[in-house]
Amino acid sequence: MTSPSSRILGTGRGVPPRVLTNQDLSRMVDTSDEWIVERTGIRERHILDPALAASDLATEAGRHACERAGVSPSEVDCIIVGTVTGDCPFPSTAVFVQKKLGAIAGGCAFDLSAACAGFIYGLALGDNFVRRGQFRRVLVIGVEVLSRIVDWQDRSTCVLFGDGAGAVLLGPESDPKRGVLSTHLFSDGTYTEVLLQQAGGSREPITAEAIAAKRHLVKMNGREVYKHAVRNMAQASKLALEANGLDSQDVNWVLAHQANLRILEGVSERVGIPLDRFYLNVDRYGNTSSASVPTVLDEALERGKIKTGDLLLMTALGGGLAWASAVVRW
Ligand code: UT7
Repeated sequence: MTSPSSRILGTGRGVPPRVLTNQDLSRMVDTSDEWIVERTGIRERHILDPALAASDLATEAGRHACERAGVSPSEVDCIIVGTVTGDCPFPSTAVFVQKKLGAIAGGCAFDLSAACAGFIYGLALGDNFVRRGQFRRVLVIGVEVLSRIVDWQDRSTCVLFGDGAGAVLLGPESDPKRGVLSTHLFSDGTYTEVLLQQAGGSREPITAEAIAAKRHLVKMNGREVYKHAVRNMAQASKLALEANGLDSQDVNWVLAHQANLRILEGVSERVGIPLDRFYLNVDRYGNTSSASVPTVLDEALERGKIKTGDLLLMTALGGGLAWASAVVRW
């Protein structure tokens, strides 16, 4: 049965207990707490235990989301995992999560690749599945274990990233003015080279040469990505508000991808929403890619920041380039 809208029934996150501080990093590469804080706003990030994988973190986040919603994982009929650091190239991380959650009830589970925009892309798919009545309970997860693909000798990238997972459980909503009001997705393949992991796929399998040249690790042209991040997240945010007949004053919370505090300041200025209406955790998590937006949402809810009826604006940009926005009435 179709439904006018979809609603977030519960949220959760998975945060590895191990913390890596800027001080710790300054003993590993030529950097300092001052540089990292001033240029990014990051103070520490979480790193996953080497014995665990993305699906472990994702399962933790998914389990919390189901618990908060009061829904048994066995009732989940679709699991969508946005990730670029899944357990292995195939099968999907989502099927590992399905197994670990005990959510095998004749539904489906799959991954999607949209880097830092992966969660909002997943939210868009999940929302459409629910509206169309194809699935009733859709678990959307963003998870990354970026610590496994970061070059720990490259100070320009290794200070930025962290590991984590965030999840939402979606279900039908009968009031079209509540829940997920809109999603907008964009990508531009002109910029495939500005942020990527070159080796490890069919174009260049992992070989001794690839490893020696570190092409199996993250490479980023930070300045270039920065520029696009401010411009495109601001544009996508404005478009999302316009599409709903809303303006910047209507927004209670901006839940944006936490890549860099300065990027968020730029978006705040362009969209005309003061930074104190952006929920921030970049200082404690760093850039967790697709886990960023759902982690922010879960933390803001846990801290009692989001009230019923609040208008939430979500936006993210990452490798692809891929970017997105969503508007949710809580
Ligand atoms: O999640 C996907 C999206 N990703 C992003 O949105 C990231 C976007 N980019 C950024 O956030 C910023 O570009 C960075 C934080 C990556 C870099 O900040 P920046 O202000 O653009 O610095 P920069 O790359 O222009 O480097 C400035 C200087 C350079 O030294 P010189 O050439 O001026 O002597 C770098 O070598 O800072 C140096 N530097 C560092 N110094 C100390 C670069 N990294 C470090 C470091 N510690 N960790």
